[in-house]
Amino acid sequence: MTATALVTGGAQGIGKAIAARLVGDGFDVVIGDVNGDAVGRTAAEIGARAVELDVTDPASVSRCAEGIDDLAVLVNNAGVLRTGSLADTTVDDYRLVMDVNVLGPLLTTGALTEALAAGDGGAVVNIASMSARTSVPGTGVYSASKAAVVALTETAALELGPRGIRVNAVGPGRIKTEMTESRHADPAREERTAALIPVRRSGLPSDVADVVSFLASRDARYVTGQTLYVDGGLLLGTIAFFQAAQGG
Ligand code: NAI
Repeated sequence: MTATALVTGGAQGIGKAIAARLVGDGFDVVIGDVNGDAVGRTAAEIGARAVELDVTDPASVSRCAEGIDDLAVLVNNAGVLRTGSLADTTVDDYRLVMDVNVLGPLLTTGALTEALAAGDGGAVVNIASMSARTSVPGTGVYSASKAAVVALTETAALELGPRGIRVNAVGPGRIKTEMTESRHADPAREERTAALIPVRRSGLPSDVADVVSFLASRDARYVTGQTLYVDGGLLLGTIAFFQAAQGG
């Protein structure tokens, strides 16, 4: 029987690349996304199945979980960013970001624990962000939400390890997707930005998808509770210093 993988927020961007990679790895992939039109189109394009899913809604998550008895991989990728200073962050902004980014993985992991524990054991991969480790002014509570994703990953790893479920996270750096397209639209800005990234380019969704594939695979069978940053070295944060210090 083909093993099943569920990718939340997989209608576009990083989630779509993850879903496509897992299809390539031989999984029967289900994409769950709140964007009903796009999720159907994407699933048809990459050879996956589509489910309309709002990860913030317990009833929607339960409906999605009802159809899945045995799950090998759960990728909690759905996420949102609201820009603005903390002073400008409204209660609605706070709730949206924390609900999608933190409550979402909590609900899906809870609803799918039995399915993940069935069979040969399961793997959960949460999509955090480099923002879990470094704050960017003007991104509201996004960093707080992603730091919470890392903490949630560690607690879940401890609680679900005895049931044969590994839980890890991936922390993308600067990745070109629909969420961040305004940052990448101007070639001059893109060139300036790339010069500050140790590997000298912005990331692609496939850069993240390949690492998710590893964490979901048997090759990572003794890895749990970890966050692997996929950021081209950006979190090291020293490149601007060395460029200035060495006049480069
Ligand atoms: P995106 O905005 O292109 O795609 C997000 C997807 O999630 C969309 O298809 C959207 O419909 C879906 N979604 C939103 N709310 C949902 C909900 N309540 N239930 C189900 N689906 C929902 O975003 P992108 O860039 O592909 O990001 C994917 C993940 O990677 C997010 O968790 C994001 O925070 C994270 N990330 C992205 C980075 C980047 O540079 N693009 C950097 C670091 C982390």
